Amino acid sequence: MATEKIRVIIVDDIAETRENIRKLLQFENDVDVIGVARTGREGLDLAKETKPDVILMDINMPDMDGITATELITKSVPFAKIVILSVQSDPNYMRRAMLAGARDFLTKPPSVDELTSAIRSAGVKAREERAKTSQGFSQQVPGGPGSSPIAAPAVSLGKVIVVYSPKGGVGCTTIAVNLAVSLHNDETQVVLVDGNLQFGDVAVFLNEQSKNSVVDLAPRADELDPEVVNGVLISHGSSGVKVLAAPFRPEYAENVTGEQFAKLLRYLRRMFSYIIVDTSSALTDVTLGGIDASDVIILVTTQDIPAIKNARLFLDVADALGIEKKRILFVMNRYDRRIGITAEKVSENFKHEIVATLPLDERIVVPSVNRGLPFMVNNKSQPIARGILALTEVVRQRLSQVEDQAEKPVSTRIAKK
Ligand SMILES: Nc1ncnc2c1ncn2[C@@H]1O[C@H](COP(=O)(O)OP(=O)(O)O)[C@@H](O)[C@H]1O
Ligand SMILES: [Mg+2]
Repeated sequence: MATEKIRVIIVDDIAETRENIRKLLQFENDVDVIGVARTGREGLDLAKETKPDVILMDINMPDMDGITATELITKSVPFAKIVILSVQSDPNYMRRAMLAGARDFLTKPPSVDELTSAIRSAGVKAREERAKTSQGFSQQVPGGPGSSPIAAPAVSLGKVIVVYSPKGGVGCTTIAVNLAVSLHNDETQVVLVDGNLQFGDVAVFLNEQSKNSVVDLAPRADELDPEVVNGVLISHGSSGVKVLAAPFRPEYAENVTGEQFAKLLRYLRRMFSYIIVDTSSALTDVTLGGIDASDVIILVTTQDIPAIKNARLFLDVADALGIEKKRILFVMNRYDRRIGITAEKVSENFKHEIVATLPLDERIVVPSVNRGLPFMVNNKSQPIARGILALTEVVRQRLSQVEDQAEKPVSTRIAKK
């Protein structure tokens, strides 16, 4: 594997400055700008979230200046190295920056060479310190000291879970919504994304309305920042799950490509522990983009023959696309033991285990959908809820077993013909 890129964030209140720096760095193969922030406080939050190697920090900014932010970041993300960029080349400023814990000080506008050499030197230092502090819980790096590039331990990016069925009406949205509620807590925040751009109904299932949608973010997938994203998400009152709704009208869906959608999902991994994506049953470009960006796919079927036939077709397609079998969690919804097509039989026949069955329960599910209140909020002891809890456990466990999909280049995952 090639040396890991130096992960950089830019903190500056002026959009033009952020853009200029990003442009200067875009041709540097060893540097990756992973995020931008507009104020010291945003920079602090972003640094905690993304744990970058290097932070390029402005001094004069609203709400928290760069010196204070530097002090705080040095405490909470100690290995991240801060390079101050300031219009003032005043030695007094420089001393204050150094005292606050900055590693370097450049005057604006920096030349490419100044900038890249400051980043590289800070990057090496960050890697060394990160490797030291993570000893004991990160993997061992083979090779002698100093001889091999230091592999940075995995930053805790979120996981993308796509809920899909090649047959409509089998319960994808029901499962996506309730799984989101089940996985969400203060430590592991969840965003639920409606990937059914034409006829998505996630917001309806949650009794929420949103002016903004996937269409407001996906086309800007290359220039997102947490503030923009948070401005578009809605917060579901009774569960705290964040929601990215489908557009208001079906024709707006055309504005989103699969690639943009995949990029958006990957971006959300920096802000959330779990990104749950509801999809349409048609294998559209956007659905494929979602699958492409996913760590695991929950494939939903019911006990009827058309649903089972289509699940079979999808498993064949997935195989042809090179999607590893263990990334697909096969689930049977609306399960009724009295019906002869049992989970065991289907598992055996498909050579793909059904990892969870969710019982048919119209008494709980239908009113919950109509009221827009997921049953996982207020009805956790029923068999259907216990099914979701069991699925939640399987998902957590499987996510720990599959290789991190974020690290793989897109082309090796889904080669669209
Ligand atoms: N386990 C279940 N028991 C009873 N009804 C269910 C169950 N799961 C889903 N439903 C009902 O089936 C309908 C379709 O579910 P939905 O989640 O919208 O499917 P999809 O998103 O796959 O089209 C909904 O009206 C929902 O109330
Ligand atoms: Mg649906």
